[in-house]
This record gives sequence, structure tokens and C-alpha cells, in this order.
Amino acid sequence: MNNRCVLVAGGAGYIGSHTAVELINAGYEVVVVDNFSNSDASSLDGIERITGVRPTFVEVDCCDKEALGEVFERYDFSSAIHFAAFKAVGESVAKPAMYYRNNLLSLLNLVELMSEYGRENIVFSSSATVYGDADVLPVTELTPRKPATSPYGNTKQMSEDILRDNVAASDKLRGIALRYFNPIGAHPSAQIGELPRGVPNNLVPYITQTAAGIRECLSIFGDDYDTPDGSCLRDYIDIVDLARAHVVAIDRMVAKLSEERYEVFNIGTGRPVSVFELVKGFEQANNLKLNYRVAARRAGDVTAVWADTTRANEVLGWRAERELSDTLKAAWQWERNVRGIKE
Ligand code: NAD
Ligand code: WQD
Repeated sequence: MNNRCVLVAGGAGYIGSHTAVELINAGYEVVVVDNFSNSDASSLDGIERITGVRPTFVEVDCCDKEALGEVFERYDFSSAIHFAAFKAVGESVAKPAMYYRNNLLSLLNLVELMSEYGRENIVFSSSATVYGDADVLPVTELTPRKPATSPYGNTKQMSEDILRDNVAASDKLRGIALRYFNPIGAHPSAQIGELPRGVPNNLVPYITQTAAGIRECLSIFGDDYDTPDGSCLRDYIDIVDLARAHVVAIDRMVAKLSEERYEVFNIGTGRPVSVFELVKGFEQANNLKLNYRVAARRAGDVTAVWADTTRANEVLGWRAERELSDTLKAAWQWERNVRGIKE
């Protein structure tokens, strides 16, 4: 078994591609599997342009256990990261079965194959969505999870439990669930970034597409929340900082540093930022004016959520480092690069 080799399931996607870069930079060999349901091969080109290394790639639907099993036959990675899931909250409400099938079956197949092939370490992409509308802020890993308000959120809670229970039933498997807050930005090289299909659901891609003239006007969903400026508060984590957290998690499991074989970490900055602050930050960082207006609240949005990152800081030895203004510059550079917009 090769401790320097990592399977990255969903590695052609937004977070997976940035993580592949950081893994390669840290000296890991990377095997990406993806079915391109929400990505394409351009991210693999980008990884290669940044690192000089093209990760091994196998086009596989992780819900197909036989096909995924062939990857285990061919490559002897000791660790895997599970990014391969659908992630649109609204779509999950409209198509719950599709979300439960894809997000749970892909993880179940991976967990079973890891045990069957005696592989050891799994990192799971969880989300701040598991906390729901938390009573006390910031949230720590011990903050109780609230009942999920969407099928997507429920798949994250169920997936954490699937991983926890399988680790408990094994004497070898290790698992780390990373609860990401709001991942934003792009690699500073502008070679990889977020590429949402259709109208973006998330704030930063909507901002960059508005700045690029693809969307006419950004709607700020609500200015009457009980917050200092009336807009919602979130914890926006730079994508490269987030990608680094995966490398640290893999390092920790490979070195068997922890007594506990299943662990959970919040991955955020620990700093709440309002929608207005983010929009103004984007304008200042990039020296431009954004067309925006205040609109009605969006159904399902919580007023505020941000991370207590003490555990990640002290136990993982990881912390967010990038300045928000640099993250917002990188987001805009990526959008310009994708659209061919000159200075
Ligand atoms: P993404 O859609 O860009 O990446 C997911 C990748 O997985 C895509 O390349 C997609 O083609 C692939 N995929 C999906 N189902 C697959 C399957 N059955 N077999 C093989 N490949 C499959 O999304 P992302 O933003 O990179 O998110 C990665 C993970 O992080 C997801 O699990 C998501 O739920 C989680 N997460 C994302 C956010 C966020 O805001 N982006 C926040 C918290 C958690
Ligand atoms: C951020 C803020 C909006 C768009 C989602 C998922 C969560 C996690 C991260 C996966 C909110 C406001 C947004 C717009 C706006 N993903 N907004 N105008 O909702 O915090 O989290 O992504 O696990 O589960 O729910 O992120 O980027 O959609 O919104 O005013 O056009 O921006 O109201 O306050 P969210 P977001």
C-alpha cells in the first residue's frame, strides 16, 4: 500500500482540483476519478499547468461499484478523499432521490471498497449546513447538528454517520470529516476555479458573472436580518486554504497521529462577513463597481453562521491564511480568464 498516493473522487470539480494541486505540491501522487457530471477535463489541464504534473485520471461514476473497484485493483493508494457529490441545495429539494442516490451510494461504495482492499484513510467533504440555524455562534464541532432542512443537508449528516459507523466497526479504517464553511475564490494562477453550470446559486460566482456582464444585476437577498448591516453573515474560506486542510488531514491519518480514528473539523476563517461587506470588498479589491440591488430574503437562508476553528488550529495545525481581498482578486482573475476579458 502506497502512503504517498491519494484517490481523489470528484477531483475534477472545484474543491477537488484545488486539492489535487496542493497534494501534488506536497509530494503526493494523485489518482482522480470523476464522471464529469459537474465538471470537465479542463480542470485537469489546469492542474497540469500549475504543477507540471497531470494526475492519473479515470472516468468513473462512483455509484458504479464494479468500475470503482477496478481503480482499486490498479492503484494502491492508502488514502481517499470523497468530493464526488451533488451540491445544489434547491435542486436537492426538487430531486431528493437523485441526491440521496448519488451522494450516499458513491460514499458507501468507496467505504466498502476501502475496507475490502485494506485501504486506510478517508477524508469526507462535509459542510456547515449540518449545523443548520445554530443557537450559539460561532459553531464548534460539538455544537449539536440541527435536523437537516434539505435533502442535500441530510446527505451530509447521513454521510458523516456512515463514515463514523464504518470506522467504528473497523480496526484499521480512519476517517476525517471536514465541515467546510463557504468556499470561495480560485487558484491565484487563474488556471483553475469554480465553473458553475447555468445561473450560479452561490454569491461569489454570481458577483463575478455580474462583473463580467453575464448577469445584469446581483440581488442581495435581504437587508432586514438581525445583523449589524441587515445582510446575512457567513464564513468565507479561501479555496487554496481549504485545499491545504485536506493535505494536513491526509498527513495526520497517514502518520496515525490521532488516538481517535474518526474526527471532525470545522474549516473556516472564524470571521463572520456580511453580504454587503463581501460585495464592497470585491469592488475595492478589483477597483470596479458592481451592479446590485436589495431583494427579498431567499427561502432557507440562515441569518448567520461562522466557525470556531480552534480545533482545526490546535489539533490539525491548520489555519486560514489568505486575505479576503486576495481571495476576491483571484475570483475575478479566474472569471476574466474563463471569459477572455482583458485588463
Ligand atoms: P463540484 O460539483 O465542483 O465537484 C464535485 C465533483 O464530483 C464534480 O467534478 C462532479 O463531476 C463529480 N461527481 C459528482 N458525482 C459523482 C459520481 N457519482 N461519480 C464521480 N464523480 C462525481 O463541487 P465542489 O464545490 O468541488 O464540492 C465538492 C464536495 O464538497 C461536495 O461533496 C460538496 O457537497 C462539498 N461541499 C461543497 C461546498 C461548496 O460550497 N462548494 C461546501 C461544503 C461542502
Ligand atoms: C451566501 C450569502 C445569501 C447569492 C451554500 C450552501 C451550503 C454550502 C455553501 C455546500 C447568503 C447571499 C447569495 C445571491 C445573495 N454548500 N446571496 N445573492 O447559502 O451560505 O451556503 O453554499 O455544502 O450548504 O447552502 O452560500 O453563496 O449561496 O450564499 O445575497 O445571488 O449570500 O443569501 O447570505 P450559503 P451562498
